[in-house]
Amino acid sequence: ALGYFTFDPGFVATASCRSAITYIDGEEGVLLYRGYPIEQLAEQSTFLEVAYLLLYGELPTAEELAAFERSITNHTMINESLKSFFNGFHYDAHPMAMMCGVVGSLSAFYYNHTDINDPADRDLAAHRLIAKMPTIAAACYKHGKGEPFVYPDNRLSYTGNFLRMMFAIPSEPYEVDPVAERALDVLFILHADHEQNASTSTVRLAGSTGAHPYASVAAGIAALWGPAHGGANEAVLRMLEEIGHPDNIPKYIAKAKDKDDPFRLMGFGHRVYKNYDPRAKIIRRHCYEVLEKLGKRNEALLDLAMRLEEVALSDEYFIERKLYPNVDFYTGIIYKALGIPTNMFTVMFAIARTVGWVAHWLEMVSDPELRIGRPRQLYTGPARRDYVALDQRG
Ligand code: SDX
Repeated sequence: ALGYFTFDPGFVATASCRSAITYIDGEEGVLLYRGYPIEQLAEQSTFLEVAYLLLYGELPTAEELAAFERSITNHTMINESLKSFFNGFHYDAHPMAMMCGVVGSLSAFYYNHTDINDPADRDLAAHRLIAKMPTIAAACYKHGKGEPFVYPDNRLSYTGNFLRMMFAIPSEPYEVDPVAERALDVLFILHADHEQNASTSTVRLAGSTGAHPYASVAAGIAALWGPAHGGANEAVLRMLEEIGHPDNIPKYIAKAKDKDDPFRLMGFGHRVYKNYDPRAKIIRRHCYEVLEKLGKRNEALLDLAMRLEEVALSDEYFIERKLYPNVDFYTGIIYKALGIPTNMFTVMFAIARTVGWVAHWLEMVSDPELRIGRPRQLYTGPARRDYVALDQRG
């Protein structure tokens, strides 16, 4: 037993890696960041404070938080030459495709300035990535709109700065809506880390080879994009819009249960949670309140999602398989209410999850016992056999 937790030695032996950052109990629906319950952090903390906690293991003092926020703020700009990189993308390129390319290109700028054996360089790489993701994300959106990029304004909060870079235009004044700013801060807290999910494992595997942190995070962005992972939030909105009306729910529930139909109920099910995803519970509880405060009455979509959940959770197929809403089921409804387009939903996930990715990267590369990741396999191919000349083959 390790304090509060008792580990089954067999489990530890099969675990793919050891980490002190995030704890999940899939059966009970528990999520702790460095021991703090996600419910308390979502209600009482801020995204940058949670970022500090995930990176360094403790809640910061006021001085530590101020210094961390200054360090992030000092790196929000991106090199001007990146504008030509964006111009290489067609206007309708998917923003996640642009994120993969542009974030990976940061390793070209900082290649000679990041010694991963130097703790100060490691911290700087982590802070730069957290700082630049919103700027790059907003630039992806602006490129698609054909609007000029908006430079960061470092007097604003992390999420306020992002909203302004997304929606401000040179010809109009722009005021950050505090309701949107806080709603986004909470969503970023909920998406910040989640143990060894597919994209974080990708970042760890890439980083374990000594690959540049920006390149490793670009690999994580690629893994996150899949609809089985972070791409699900975009797929949920498209599914809800396709269902369109509660009367159509039974048809889609039947499709989701049909083994021969590739359709899955997006935003439902999880590799680890066999109970309600605690993040989905928090988002679901706040949805109506946030929509109300934003004055965005797209409640029809929310009503449809709630009804879909109700029907699914009363259906034997979902009950016996322990399929519950996950973090992606309700997030898109709030993103849409904030004016964020559907194809940007997974980019939002990437901005927040960058904190988890760099926290795991820092934990891994700081470990003196670091070994290259090398998953093994169960071989199912043919036994040894001799080569057959071409003219001898049947
Ligand atoms: C994220 O790992 C993380 O932590 C990820 C994440 C994070 O924060 O990083 O939490 C973020 O990726 C959340 C998941 C987002 N993806 C989706 O919402 C896509 C829809 N969900 C499914 O594709 C699926 O549930 C997965 C991919 C999430 C999990 O797949 P598994 O592990 O195969 O699910 P399972 O083993 O629990 O499945 C058991 C059964 C299977 O059927 P049977 O073979 O038993 O008959 O349930 C079925 C599955 O086919 N099933 C579903 C289903 N999810 C599982 N059937 C219909 N709809 C679904 N959504």
